[in-house]
Formats: sequence, structure tokens, C-alpha cells
Amino acid sequence: MEITSAEFTISNTDVRKCPAGNLPEYAFIGRSNVGKSSLINMLTNRKGLALTSSKPGKTMLINHFLINKNWYIVDLPGYGYAQRGQKGLTQIQRIIEDYILEREQMTNLFILIDARLTPQKIDLEFIEWCGENNVPFSIVFTKTDKLKGGKLNANIAQYLEKLKENWEEIPPYFITSSENRMGRNEILNYIEQINKDLF
Ligand code: GTP
Ligand code: MG
Repeated sequence: MEITSAEFTISNTDVRKCPAGNLPEYAFIGRSNVGKSSLINMLTNRKGLALTSSKPGKTMLINHFLINKNWYIVDLPGYGYAQRGQKGLTQIQRIIEDYILEREQMTNLFILIDARLTPQKIDLEFIEWCGENNVPFSIVFTKTDKLKGGKLNANIAQYLEKLKENWEEIPPYFITSSENRMGRNEILNYIEQINKDLF
């Protein structure tokens, strides 16, 4: 799929104020600093579309980007960033949960996982929660340019093994780097296929 247009539409904290209409939405979530905004910029080929930062906690809002005038990318706040304090964490969690559970046009949730780390409890619990709530999701391993091939393969294999403990079928997954654009075609093709089935 070619990205011919990508426009920022709106930011807010309230799912009821998200854009009207029923265009399909593909949302990106994961721990703070995992690379959500960078991935969105890589996918859309637009460097400054989603704001990125080396400091965690940059994205605090639900951000909608209209793509090719007929579907949305949604940049969600990261979960589990302790510096926000308990009140901040609870607030962000409410924003995320309301969006995911109430937004009917949310067609797929991409859950980003830092490929450098061993399986983290917070991510596994989030994936479980998605399963319990029948949220359609897939996994995106990020920052793979920071790992050598052998280590990368070992980490991915370890992650898939961990998922097999709770899932009969491994969810769809993508191996990506915003730095060298790995995984871009795969994710865009995946979205294109789902859109084709919808329209
Ligand atoms: P929050 O909005 O704070 O939740 O973070 P985020 O998940 O949107 O992360 P963001 O895209 O802002 O990236 C965080 C940091 O990781 C930035 O310094 C990025 O440059 C870096 N980064 C993101 N993706 C990659 C990648 O694929 N490779 C490398 N080497 N660095 C990356
Ligand atoms: Mg961000």
C-alpha cells in the first residue's frame, strides 16, 4: 500500500470526542518509550507527524491521523510509566481502556514490544487483558536494529514460547525497526488486507 496522504486530525483524552464517522482505526500501544510514535512516522514516511522523544511519557493523548482519507492511525499514550505517579498512571489507564473497549471502529490494536528485552510482566498482562476482552490485536517487535541477528532471533523465539503458554495460536506478529524501516511493508500490507475485507 502506498501512503498518499497523512494528516493529523485531533488529540484528546476522551473517547467520546474522537472523530465522528466510522472509518477503520489502527491503534498503536505499548510501554512508554517503546517506539510507537517513531513507528507511525516510519509507516507514514513523515518524520514529524507523531511527536517522538527520548524521554518516556511524551504521548499523553489519543492522537488521530487520517491516512489516505479513508482510515486512521491512532497513537495512544504508553502504559506503565511510573514517573507520572499513581494518579497519572490511573488516568492514562482509563483513557487507554475506554478507547480500546468503547471505540467500535478500532479494527486492530498493534501492541509494541521492545525486542531487546526478555518478556516483561506488564506487557504479558496487557496482552492477557486484550484476550479476555476480545480485543483484536497483533504484536510488533520494535528497535530490532539495536540487536545482532542471533540475539534478535533468540529473543523473538523466547517471546513466542512465552505467548504459547497462554495462547493456542500465536497472534500475528511483525519484526520492525523505525531506524532501518524493517517491517514497514508487512504492516502496511496487513492493514491493506483488513481494509479490503471491510470495504
Ligand atoms: P511515549 O510517547 O513516551 O509513550 O513513547 P513512544 O513509544 O511513542 O516512543 P518514541 O517513538 O517517542 O521513541 C522513544 C525513543 O526510542 C526515541 O529516542 C526514538 O528515537 C527511539 N526509537 C524508536 N524506535 C526506534 C528504532 O526502531 N530503533 C532505534 N534505534 N531507536 C528507536
Ligand atoms: Mg509517543
